[in-house]
Formats: sequence, structure tokens, C-alpha cells
Amino acid sequence: MSDLPASVTETAALLARGGYIAGEALATSTFLALKLKRPLLLEGEPGTGKTELAKVLAETLGRPLVRLQCYEGLDLASAAYEWNYSRQLIHIRAAEAAGEGLSTSALERDIYSGDYLLKRPLLQALELSAEGRSPVLLIDELDRADEPFEAFLLEILGDYQITIPELGVIAAKEPPITILTSNRTREVHDAVRRRCFYHWIDFPTAGREREILSLKVPEAAAELTRQVVAFVQGLRRMDLYKTPGVAESINWAQALASLDCVALDPAKVDSTLGTLLKYQDDIARIQGSEAARLIEEVKGKARADAAG
Ligand SMILES: Nc1ncnc2c1ncn2[C@@H]1O[C@H](COP(=O)(O)OP(=O)(O)OP(=O)(O)O)[C@@H](O)[C@H]1O
Ligand SMILES: [Mg+2]
Repeated sequence: MSDLPASVTETAALLARGGYIAGEALATSTFLALKLKRPLLLEGEPGTGKTELAKVLAETLGRPLVRLQCYEGLDLASAAYEWNYSRQLIHIRAAEAAGEGLSTSALERDIYSGDYLLKRPLLQALELSAEGRSPVLLIDELDRADEPFEAFLLEILGDYQITIPELGVIAAKEPPITILTSNRTREVHDAVRRRCFYHWIDFPTAGREREILSLKVPEAAAELTRQVVAFVQGLRRMDLYKTPGVAESINWAQALASLDCVALDPAKVDSTLGTLLKYQDDIARIQGSEAARLIEEVKGKARADAAG
């Protein structure tokens, strides 16, 4: 019996149980990736829920999360496996001391066995949990790794296996649920893309962002949530150096609610902008008259909605 959702609607409901609000398109991509057992490559603006999707899937499906955070210089030894040289050496010394007179090939067979392997995330992801389920493998921010590293991933993404020259092929009994994310600081290679389903996560619509905020910041008054979303959506239409993501709207709503704010006012907005915008140029541009103008726009729209 599979614990996986049987439809797009069930997938959206599963994610919602974990506090993740997915649109129809993302729920469809996720459902298909789960059903057809293919890795899912997520790209999109920062803070729009790429990493969170993998975490919520692991949590709601009750599977371990195996996370590989990519960085410049990441290599096979840190990502997949490494031989435990010191243990191998101790074994050789011990065999010598015991005078076992083992042949070189017998000794090699000993020290290149699974017991001497240090398993890193990619190899761990091929193992089943104690409950017999495959984990969720999150390969996060792949664009941060060097391009040649992607070649290591092709075997695991295509066949869910890793070939260790000294040991042979290690294959997954059941494919891990695999999510890759990229922020597009460089393009991920075609060969990786071909092995994955692809989904671009855009900023949410106002309606979806209100839903997310009501779920994540229940302490904020409904009117404050509405105004925060309208304000942030207004900011996203401007040409800022760094446009705020969902993570930032959540932080801002939390900050305002902590200050007992029930509606936006210029002073509160100016003093809390650092939770929403993270570059001084952006803050300097918005603080003061621009923020006041946006607040008016947000409130004017609310008045028009109420009247209409
Ligand atoms: N659709 C959503 N439903 C619920 N929460 C969301 C959603 N999208 C984003 N969030 C919230 O925003 C926060 C940031 O999301 P996440 O860390 O997944 O962003 P990201 O896309 O991985 O960003 P980055 O590119 O900076 O790593 C999460 O902690 C989550 O609470
Ligand atoms: Mg992320």
C-alpha cells in the first residue's frame, strides 16, 4: 500500500496539512513527480518555498529528510561517500600483527567492503528507513556547486544508483523522493534537467499569499494580513534590487504583530522595513514618502473594495 497521494487534489491537501499552500500547477508537478518517481527540479525567486516543499513532503509523508546543501567546492567525498582510511589502516595493521598472512587481494576485499564506507547524503538516500520507506532527498541550491559536480548526479537522478569502483553498484530498493532546487545564479546543465521534471515557483498571487500568512502568522489581525500582502505585492511591482519573497512577508507580518500593530501606518512601516528589505538602497528608496504612498494605495483599494 502506497502512502503517496492518489491525485492532484490529494497532493495539495497533503501539503496543506504540513502548512504549505501550493497552487494547482505546483501540486500537479509534485503529484506527477511522486507518481512517476522522477526527481523534481524547482527554480524560482528566493523565499518562495522551494526548500520548504521538500521539508513538508518529508514531514507529511513521515519519511526521513536527507539534505545535501550544495556549495562551491562540494565533491563526491562530501556528497556521496568516502572510504574510512583510518579504519582501513587499523584493519591492515591488526591483520599484520595477528600474523594472519592474508593475501593482498583478500585484504583488499576486506577493506573495500561496506563496513569501511562513510556514507554521505546521496548514498544515505538510497537506503530505506526503519519503516521500510525511501527518504526525501533534497539537493538544495544546486547552482552553488561547481558545474562538474552535476556529472556525479546523473547516475543517481537517472537510475537511483551509485557506482563505487572498488565495491560495485549500489542501487536504491525504492527510489528516494528527490527534490532539487536552484536560484539560477548559473544555469543547471541540460543533462540534469532532462532527468527531472521542472517547475518554476513564482511569487504567489495576493489570495494565496494571504492564505499562507493566515496559516503562518495566525496572531496577525486579518486586516493587517490583508494590508501586508497588498503592500508587499506593490513592492514586487517596483524595480527593487532584491524583491521580498514569501519568507519576508511572513517575517514582516510577525514583526508588526509583535508590535501590536493592527493596521499599517508610516512610522511602523519605516521602523520595521529591515524585516522585509535587506539592502540599504532598497530601504532608502522605500522609507518615507514612497512607503506612505503605498500605504495610501493599499488603504484606498480597501475602501474601494468595501464600497464596491
Ligand atoms: N507556498 C507556501 N506555503 C507555505 N509557506 C511558504 C510557502 N512559500 C514559502 N513559504 C514560507 O517561506 C519560507 C521560505 O521558504 P523557502 O526557504 O522554502 O524558500 P526558498 O524558495 O527555498 O528560498 P531560497 O531560494 O532563498 O532558499 C518558508 O519557511 C515557508 O514558511
Ligand atoms: Mg531554499
